Amino acid sequence: MAAWSCRFLFLLRGTRVIPPRATAERPALLVGCIRTVKTTTWFEENLTEDNQEYMRKSMAEEYRRQTAEKLNPLKDEPWPRHEWTEGSRRVGLVAVKLGMVPVWTKTGERHVVTMLQVQDCHIIKCLSKEEHDGHSAALIVGGKNVSPFHRSEKQMEVFRNAGVPPKQKVTTFKVSDSAIIKPGTPLYAAHFRPGQYVDVTGKSIGKGFQGVMKRWGFKGQPATHGQTKTHRRPGASGPGGDPAKVFKGKKMPGQMGNSYITAYGLKIWRVNTKYNVLYINGSVPGHKNCLLKVRDTVLPSRRSTLLNPPFPTYFTEEDGDLDEDLYDEDLFVHTEPSLTLT
Ligand SMILES: *[C@@H]1O[C@H](CO)[C@@H](O)[C@H](O)[C@H]1NC(C)=O
Ligand SMILES: *[C@@H]1O[C@H](CO)[C@@H](O)[C@H](O)[C@H]1NC(C)=O
Repeated sequence: MAAWSCRFLFLLRGTRVIPPRATAERPALLVGCIRTVKTTTWFEENLTEDNQEYMRKSMAEEYRRQTAEKLNPLKDEPWPRHEWTEGSRRVGLVAVKLGMVPVWTKTGERHVVTMLQVQDCHIIKCLSKEEHDGHSAALIVGGKNVSPFHRSEKQMEVFRNAGVPPKQKVTTFKVSDSAIIKPGTPLYAAHFRPGQYVDVTGKSIGKGFQGVMKRWGFKGQPATHGQTKTHRRPGASGPGGDPAKVFKGKKMPGQMGNSYITAYGLKIWRVNTKYNVLYINGSVPGHKNCLLKVRDTVLPSRRSTLLNPPFPTYFTEEDGDLDEDLYDEDLFVHTEPSLTLT
C-alpha cells in the first residue's frame, strides 16, 4: 500500500512538474503580467538569408502556378474608371498596427502618431448594389497573406477567383458605384494622402470583467468614515419611489474591451510609399500587429480635406512613381535643416 501511494505521489508530482517547464521558455512573462504575448515561430526563423529568399521565391512560384489556370484579372481588360466627384465614396485599406512614434510640426509642436503598414492588401470581390444590401455597392478587401492551411477550401475558392493569396483579414467597404475596382487589384498606402482625415476600426484590447471605476471612471466611495467594503463599488443605481426601476443603459460592471471600436477623424501626417506606412495622428484601437480597417472619414466637418484624392485608388502603373515620403505641409521634415545662418 505504501509503495502504491508513493508511486501515486510521484506521478502527481510528475504531472505537476510539466507546466513550469513549458512556461520556463518565457520566464519574463510570469512576473506580474496581466496580458501575455504569445510568440509563434514561423518557418523563416532558423533559415539563412539565402534560404529565406529561396523559400519566398518558391512560394510565389507555387502560387502563380495554382492561379495560372484562372484568368488573371490584372492582365485582361481593365474596368472603366470614373472621375472623382464630390460625395463619391472610395474603398479603404486593411493595415497592420506597428506602434507609435512622435513627430514634430514646423512650429515645434509634438504629436504622437501611430504607424500602420499596408501589407499585401488586395481587392477580393466586388458586390453590386443588388448583391450587397440594395443601397450601395461594396468591395471586399483582404490584408496580410496567410498560409492556405489557415483557410477552408470554400474560402480558398474566393481567393483563387480573385487571383490573390489567402488573407488573414477580410473586410467589406461600402463604395459608390463609380468607385468599384476590379478584384485582384493591389492597394497601397498612397491611396491616402497627407493632410486628409481617416477613420480607423479595430478590435480593442480585452480587459476582462471590470468594475465601474475602471470601466466607466466612477469616483468610488471614501476611504474612511465608516465605509465597509464599499470603496470601489458603484453605490445607488437609481431612484426608488417614483420610477422604481433602474433605467436601461445604466453604467454597471461588465466586460471591458475586446469589442470593435472606431476612432474617427484622425489626421494623416505622413505616408511612406516604399514600405507602405501611414503615420496617423493619435491612437487607434487594438494591440501591436493587429489588423485594422482604415477608410476616408465620414465626419462631415472633416470630409472637406478630401480634395481630389487618387480615384478610385492609387495605381502604380498609371500615376507614376511618387516620392518615397509624402509629408503634410505643417510637418517638420528631419532631413531638412532646422536653422539657416545668414
Ligand atoms: C531556432 O533556433 C533556436 C536556437 O537554436 C531554437 O531554440 C528554436 O527552437 C529554433 N526554432 C525552430 C522553429 O526550429
Ligand atoms: C491629434 O491627436 C491628439 C490626441 O488624440 C489631439 O489632441 C490633436 O488635436 C490631434 N491633432 C490633429 C491635427 O488632429
